[in-house]
Amino acid sequence: MTINWGIIGAGFIAQVFTEEFDYIEQGKITAIASRSRDKAEKFALKNNIEKSYSNYEELAKDDEIDVIYIATPHSHHLENTSLCLNNNKHVLCEKPIAVNEKQAQKMFKLAEEKNLFLMEAMWTYFLPPILKVKKLINGGKIGEIRLLTARVGINAVKKENKRLFDPKLAGGTLLDTGIYPVALSNYLLEGEPKDVNASSYIGDTGVDEHSALLLKYPKEQIAQLTCSIQADILTEATIYGTEGQIYIPDFLRAQRAVLVKGDNKENIEDERESKGYTYQIKAVNQDIMNNNIENNIATKQITLNNMKILDRAREIIGFKYPFETQ
Ligand SMILES: NC(=O)c1ccc[n+]([C@@H]2O[C@H](COP(=O)([O-])OP(=O)(O)OC[C@H]3O[C@@H](n4cnc5c(N)ncnc54)[C@H](OP(=O)(O)O)[C@@H]3O)[C@@H](O)[C@H]2O)c1
Repeated sequence: MTINWGIIGAGFIAQVFTEEFDYIEQGKITAIASRSRDKAEKFALKNNIEKSYSNYEELAKDDEIDVIYIATPHSHHLENTSLCLNNNKHVLCEKPIAVNEKQAQKMFKLAEEKNLFLMEAMWTYFLPPILKVKKLINGGKIGEIRLLTARVGINAVKKENKRLFDPKLAGGTLLDTGIYPVALSNYLLEGEPKDVNASSYIGDTGVDEHSALLLKYPKEQIAQLTCSIQADILTEATIYGTEGQIYIPDFLRAQRAVLVKGDNKENIEDERESKGYTYQIKAVNQDIMNNNIENNIATKQITLNNMKILDRAREIIGFKYPFETQ
């Protein structure tokens, strides 16, 4: 069986995602939709895609399509996902799934009512080193977890990375990059944080450009997370337990993790040829073939928990988007 994929939005990540299908056997990109006819046609030609649409609605109504990947700015995820679900299409929606928890709740409610699959494209969860780290932690390999540190930062240029700095497109570092350390923390630590603390710098375009979070989980576990669109910060995560540590370089794209116990170091490697988005794509194909409406790794619960933390952080720093009325 081949799963037919459509893509909404012919931007940066749509191109990266499309190239990953060179490594996928049970699915193909059958259609691309852009707001511009020219852009859609060029994207289709470049990537050998059968159909191109000059508006999102036509793609959503295409009966041949099984699942649609939403690759638009976060500000548009609710609208684009709702369009697809209302036209009976399964959805894989880019991260963060929405701007806030309230929007995410609406999306899951609609998916449930329609009995359709919906997942946030948090591809990091599906990377083999991350899955292995989770297994080691759950198996008690480094004892009781006490601290997780994770940071990610890019030195984004305002003129070139307009989306990141535009409040109308839900720009800012918390939602764009901060979601990764938050997702990792919620995936590896236990329960929901009891306390969320946050500190940020808001830049001249009105979005948070540099943020730090401190999360206190129920079982004496703390997460210390940093994100930035002001500076290239070495992307890495470390989980500290009472009996060892696990270090994950470039954790959001993890190809490697290192288990450290005393003087012993053990490398966990992923020898993949693809960039790694393939693991989540395969998981979605499998879920659709199995008629699942929820993935068992990127669950509704973890997705909502991530949004809740980002909401709380923005509340603490006093940062709302112009379209957030309440
Ligand atoms: N998983 C990852 O590794 C990863 C990496 C980067 C980004 N992302 C996520 O992917 C999403 C898109 O990011 P991106 O970097 O690909 O952005 P991008 O290059 O700006 O592309 C976004 C696309 O969305 C469409 N769009 C619809 N309404 C828009 C509007 N009002 N303004 C601008 N564009 C609009 C445009 O496509 P058309 O003009 O063709 O309609 C545009 O090309 C974001 O949610 C981001 O967080 C994920």
